[in-house]
Amino acid sequence: MADIILGIESSCDDTSAAVIADRVLLSNVIASQAVHKSFGGVVPELASRAHEQNIVPVVSEALSRAGVKPEELTAIAFTRGPGLLGSLLVGTSFAKAMGLALDIPLIDVNHLQGHVLANFVRQKDVPVREPSFPYLCLLISGGNSQIVKVNSPLDFEILGQTIDDAVGEAFDKCSKMMGLGYPGGPIIDRLAANGDPKRFQFAKPHIPGLDYSFSGVKTSLLYFVRDKIALDPDFMEKNKEDICASFQKTLVDILFDKFIKAAKQTGIREMTIGGGVSANSAVRARLVEEGARRGWNVYLPEFKFTTDNAAMIAIAGYFHYLNGERMPLDAAPVSRIADF
Ligand code: KG4
Repeated sequence: MADIILGIESSCDDTSAAVIADRVLLSNVIASQAVHKSFGGVVPELASRAHEQNIVPVVSEALSRAGVKPEELTAIAFTRGPGLLGSLLVGTSFAKAMGLALDIPLIDVNHLQGHVLANFVRQKDVPVREPSFPYLCLLISGGNSQIVKVNSPLDFEILGQTIDDAVGEAFDKCSKMMGLGYPGGPIIDRLAANGDPKRFQFAKPHIPGLDYSFSGVKTSLLYFVRDKIALDPDFMEKNKEDICASFQKTLVDILFDKFIKAAKQTGIREMTIGGGVSANSAVRARLVEEGARRGWNVYLPEFKFTTDNAAMIAIAGYFHYLNGERMPLDAAPVSRIADF
């Protein structure tokens, strides 16, 4: 009999539930929270309230689309952190209550591990193509930028990470700064498609090893826009596509300088990306291009598994379940990765 796992994700501003049978996805429901748009960023208090409203209908819908009754579930996997504490509390408390009611095990999942394992979600009628171990994952989201060496589904080594902002934060904050809207990543990506990536230059950091820094490039863009607008108030409007394309290229160059270095240092050629920024078209194109140039095997997660979703939490939970891991009822959510 297959192990049927319900996954629950509520770390930020998406309430999501998914059902997998062994590794095959049966359903993946995501309720995004439009309420944050007018604030130009996620408002934690509003996110928790929206999760509280969404969690029951989202889980019911995931079970119904999967054709699975609650009593057929083997275990419940949920995001314990990192993320917004109020948001995590909703998913954690819901999972505990449901696990208790059904008398089934709870599996706590590190959200980032979910992103790194997203390529292992199998789908009916989709050929299986998964990286072999060890592989490298460029984990890029709104909260993290890391190069992770994945030795097995449960054995991860962080080879490098940002010392300040995450790359998604750089996209979002710079979009806000340019008055383009929120979330910035998809907006900049869309505008960049019609721009010249070589037109403008922005400062790149000089950080030793495999660590990243994105605060300097953010400041570089801020001063650039400020100085140009002082000379011509319409500069932004006239040049936004070229600015976005050039800024995006700078971020992608920074990401790949270190990712290529990590591949050289480890000798690994199985390469993946994960996290919200892995939806970026220039990041995806660059991975394919570098792969062809360097003889890497590259694995691109499907778009629906790049941003926050419960399918990746269910698959990570499945591996922990097979490893015999269970979460005690008195365990609490954790907001920071360092607390894991
Ligand atoms: O992984 P995610 O959904 O949430 C966490 O941060 O955990 O990532 C959200 C981030 C945001 O910063 C958003 O702007 C970025 O992913 N993002 C993108 C694109 N789509 C989403 N960044 C660049 N290009 C995109 N197409």
